[in-house]
Order: sequence, then C-alpha cells, then structure tokens
Amino acid sequence: MQDSYWYKDAVFYEVYVRAFFDSNADGHGDLPGLLQKLDYLQALGVDCLWLMPVYPSPLKDDGYDIASYYGIQPVFGSLDDFKELVEAAHARGIRIIMDLVLNHTSDQHPWFQLARSDPNSPYRDYYVWSDSDQHYKDARIIFLDTEKSNWTWDEVAGQYYWHRFYASQPDLNYDNPAVQAEMINVAKFWLDLGIDGFRADAIPYLFEREGTNCENLPETHAYLKQLRSYVERHYPGRILLCEANQWPQDVRPYFGEGDEFHMGFHFPVMPRIFMSIHMGDRTPLAWILEHTPEIPSSCQWCTFLRNHDELTLEMVTEEERQWMWQVYAPEPRMRLNLGIRRRLAPLLDYDRRRIELANSLLFTLPGSPILYYGDEIGMGDNIWLTDRNGVRTPMQWNDGPNAGFSQATPNLLYTPVIEDPISGPEVVNVARQQADAGSLLNLIRRMIALRKQHPAFGRGSFAWLQNDCEAVAAFQRALPEDSLWCFHNLSAEAQSVPLPEHPGQALYDLFTGRVLPPSAGQLDLEPYQYVWLCLQQV
Ligand code: NOJ
Repeated sequence: MQDSYWYKDAVFYEVYVRAFFDSNADGHGDLPGLLQKLDYLQALGVDCLWLMPVYPSPLKDDGYDIASYYGIQPVFGSLDDFKELVEAAHARGIRIIMDLVLNHTSDQHPWFQLARSDPNSPYRDYYVWSDSDQHYKDARIIFLDTEKSNWTWDEVAGQYYWHRFYASQPDLNYDNPAVQAEMINVAKFWLDLGIDGFRADAIPYLFEREGTNCENLPETHAYLKQLRSYVERHYPGRILLCEANQWPQDVRPYFGEGDEFHMGFHFPVMPRIFMSIHMGDRTPLAWILEHTPEIPSSCQWCTFLRNHDELTLEMVTEEERQWMWQVYAPEPRMRLNLGIRRRLAPLLDYDRRRIELANSLLFTLPGSPILYYGDEIGMGDNIWLTDRNGVRTPMQWNDGPNAGFSQATPNLLYTPVIEDPISGPEVVNVARQQADAGSLLNLIRRMIALRKQHPAFGRGSFAWLQNDCEAVAAFQRALPEDSLWCFHNLSAEAQSVPLPEHPGQALYDLFTGRVLPPSAGQLDLEPYQYVWLCLQQV
C-alpha cells in the first residue's frame, strides 16, 4: 500500500452501511455486518470502499444531516467497531474513505441547538443568520421538489437561517474561522483512526456572497487548499475526493495545481453514457470528453454510472433533460428534483448486454470507476418508496428471508427488501451469482481483475480511434508499456469497424483470449458488444 498515487489504479465501491448487512438482527445494516462481508468485497476485487455517512444523525437525509462529527450512529455500531473495520479492511488490502460533510449539520446538532437558543452563544456564528430572507437571491434551490427557499425562519432564534439542502440541514458559516478550524479537526479525528481519505460532500456551497450564485467561490477554494495542505502535511497518501456536481470547467479549479483535491467525480460524463447507449451514437460521449479539460498529473477523475442519489440531470441542457426523462423515467414517480431515481439495471431494462456495455465504458474511460453497492448483481429499485430511498434497499445476499440481509422480522427492516418477479431476491442475489460462472457478478469481477492487470486503464492517455461509424465508441488507452484498444458498439445492430494499422503487433482480446494477427484490418461487433484489445509485440 505504498504508492501515493494508488487512487489512480483503484476501483472504488460505494457502501450504504444501513443497507449492506445487519449483524445484530435489528433490521439495520451496521459496521460489524460490513466487516463480515469484507471477504465478498475482496473477492470482487475492489480497492477502496466509500462509506456513506456513519455519524450520529436523525437520518432525515440518510446521515448527511450530522448531529455529531466525532462518533458513530449507534445503530451502525461503535467507534471500536469502526476501528476494527478499518483494520480488517487494511489487512485485506482494501482502503476506506468516508463522507466528510463540510457544508451543513443537522438541526439536531448541539451547535445549532445552542446557536438558535442563545444569540450570545459562540455557536450562533457557526451558522448563517439573517433578519431577511431576501439575501443571496441568485443561489438556486437544489432540492427543488421539497424546498421553497434557501432560508427558513427559526422561531427560537427569531431569525432566518441559510441552508442549501433540506431545512433540517442548516449551512455552516465558513466566514467564521472557528468553523474552518473545527472542520479540519474533524478530518484529523478520522484520519487518526486510520481512514484513507474523504469523499467531501457538497463542496461548491461552503461560502455565500451577495451577487453571485454562491457556488465555486474563490473563498471556497482558498479554504479547501488549506484543508488539502493539512492532509498532505500530516497524512500523505490519504485522499480527498470532491463532490461538485458542476461542468468540467468549474470542477477543474477543484484540482488546483495538484494542491486541492486528488480526485473529483466526473458528473457530466455519466448521463452521456446513458444518452449514447440509448441513441446508439457516441456523439454525446465524445462531446463531453472534448469539453473535459486536462487535470494535473497527480489528479484523477472518478467515474460512476449510479450512486445513492437520483441520476442527476443538472449537467445537461433543458432539451436533453426532457429527452432523458422521457426515455429513462417514463413514469412521473421515477423522477426527483432534476434527476431520475432508478438503479442501473432497471434503467437499462435489465438487458444484460446494455448493462455490460455501460460497465465496460465505466471501466475503460479515463478516471477511476466507482461501483454502487448492488449494481454488481444488477439489483432493482422500488419507485414506490419516497425520495431516493428506492435505490437504497437492502443488499440481496441470497433468496432466504430478508434476502439474507437481516435476521430481524421483516417489519423491523429499515426499509423493505425489493419484491418483484424480475429483480426480487429469488432471482437477483449474490449467492446465486457466485455459483454461476456466467453471472453479472462474475463478469464485473473479471472486468475489475483485467483492469488491474493493465495500468493504462487508470493512468494511460486517452485518444479516439478514428472510424466513421458513430455507433461505435473506439478509443485507445496507453502508457509506453501498455497499450489498449477498447471498442463499444452502442447500437442494437451489428457493426464492422476498421482497425488502425498495427504492424508488428498482434491484438490480444482480454476477455476471450483470441489473438488477431498484425494483418487484421477489421473488427466485427455484435449488437452492444464491447471488446478490449491489448497490443502485443510479435
Ligand atoms: C450530496 C449527497 O450525495 C446527498 O445524498 C445529500 O442529500 C446532499 N449532498 C446533502 O448533503
């Protein structure tokens, strides 16, 4: 675990602890439960887990509403459980990053309780207060479906407080040096427990300034640089991953000159993978890659297909959003805010070919991929649950009671297991797929293993391979010592594409072992087929 650029080669896996495995039959997944499933994750081959928030919280936003930064939500376990988990993961060569929620706390946090009840409390200035709700009018509302304003009147305080998300999540005031220092202390606390870094939540919104949209402000970057320099000085090799749902040119500054974030999610590439697959045309994908700026050599994009939120459509045009909704969210209850609250497999009609194709793009495009728990077995969703809960249902381990997730009586489960004939645990579960060599789980495991054998996927350059067929996304990933050609037929029709000249080199198909000789001039692709070829000197 020595290489400080480990995150460039890593495959990440997002775990919703409450949904993963319940060790004590109370109906909630927990840290000891996750520990018991580390063997599964090791066998899958993932390198780093991202734990969604595990802090004490009233769970009005699934833990993104923190009531104490220095502890563990009791239903998830204890700090000792956490330490044991980190140790056990490290013993298996698996790293752990966790959410660092800088922007806001829960309204149940003692800081907010003290702030609202006493204007002279030092905590008053931990939050953003005003006598008027007319400030910062240019800041958009993010949770459009539930919130009417970013200001909420607090009876106790007799003032409005500022919040970018739910009203139960008051924003911290980063103009207060005490807040700045406190959050660095939070980072220190967890890094001292041995974690490998943070996925930093809701990064663009730390500061507010009149006359701006209150996103990506210079003050925000200045603070983040301080955080990075602190981490760098005291905890080299640990990473900061930026959640900024922005256009690439606005995410670019979060990498700084290699002195801000190590990694940033590539939000806009995600919907374009879905667009390209539905259209059978690489144009949307090509467009966004063209508009993705270079990043410092120490930095890395993080790519994903789905996560615990709605599939966000903030980074597309209005017209594209309407189209995506029509195509991928035909029923109104599939939509939320500016997005789609569905999982990967149902989005792609449980069509194994398109699910594989999407994963192949995820694993071969520039960046380090992150998988969302359950997508490796093609889990479904439950659109009848509210908010984003439909994509946060219990992991389906087997076809036993509660899908093997918990031994509690079903009415105690934090949310019901998926029940439907296509994606219920009778059909979709880990045990069944482990036993089936041809399962999606085994295919994803294979993709991860192949990716790890080829450093060019994580660190290599990217270049399109020219061909006139828009239905085929073909590109090269290359390092001097490792050269790969990846082909994706995005369409439902068979396609043939010319192969670039490759004198003196054979093309080795990583999945099938087939070898194409130096003279091979063309590649035939079945509908939705993908091929990963490795160039080899003959
Ligand atoms: C982004 C997180 O991904 C989302 O789940 C959460 O609701 C907001 N930030 C607020 O913390």
